[in-house]
Amino acid sequence: MSEAERLRRLSKYEARDEVLFRTDDTPEMEFLSPFGPLIGRTQVPSYLLEHINEHVDGLLQPGKGGEVQLSEEFSLTGGDDSLVHWVAKQIDRYVRGVERSDPDSIQLQRLWVVSQYAETSSPVHFHSGDISGVMYLRVPSVDSQQAEQRNYISGRKAGYINFMIGGKQRFSRSLISFKPVVGEFLVFPGWLLHGAEPFLGTGERRSLAFNAGVVGE
Ligand SMILES: [Fe+2]
Repeated sequence: MSEAERLRRLSKYEARDEVLFRTDDTPEMEFLSPFGPLIGRTQVPSYLLEHINEHVDGLLQPGKGGEVQLSEEFSLTGGDDSLVHWVAKQIDRYVRGVERSDPDSIQLQRLWVVSQYAETSSPVHFHSGDISGVMYLRVPSVDSQQAEQRNYISGRKAGYINFMIGGKQRFSRSLISFKPVVGEFLVFPGWLLHGAEPFLGTGERRSLAFNAGVVGE
């Protein structure tokens, strides 16, 4: 391996010199947050949302939560417009963004949909693959007071997805919560701990998740 190639391969571990926020006094102090896992966020095309929802509607009982494994037949239907093709493309974008090189191959191992109603939770967990993600297909109408309610760990908001890393470490951030929004897609390392607190409200919280293996350098 040439020296240039070796350096290129190592560059994926280098953080970027980006300012997260700054003080408004003089001279200002800049705050950088260079370390840690990266979470990618993008939008799902509406044709895909409709396609998945229509399929899942036929497999779930209205008003009852549950989990639906998406078959290969369904996931591959549509060629370039298929669910598998779209998700693999987002994983490729994520890997290229994070590692600055193309993955050799992406294997989608499993795609499934989780349907939840009020007072059900997704306990904190990680996934078995290299890369995981979540796509929001439906969101409930959540009691607004409860949605913002914080419990013993700041940031663990009801119905939100909460990502956690490293526990409590002073002078370090270890939690982030995202409100589920229909059409939003998050992609993250499969080892990153995450979960969702139960919500109070009406309607369904429906999300798609996946596990993928990434072969690369
Ligand atoms: Fe998950």
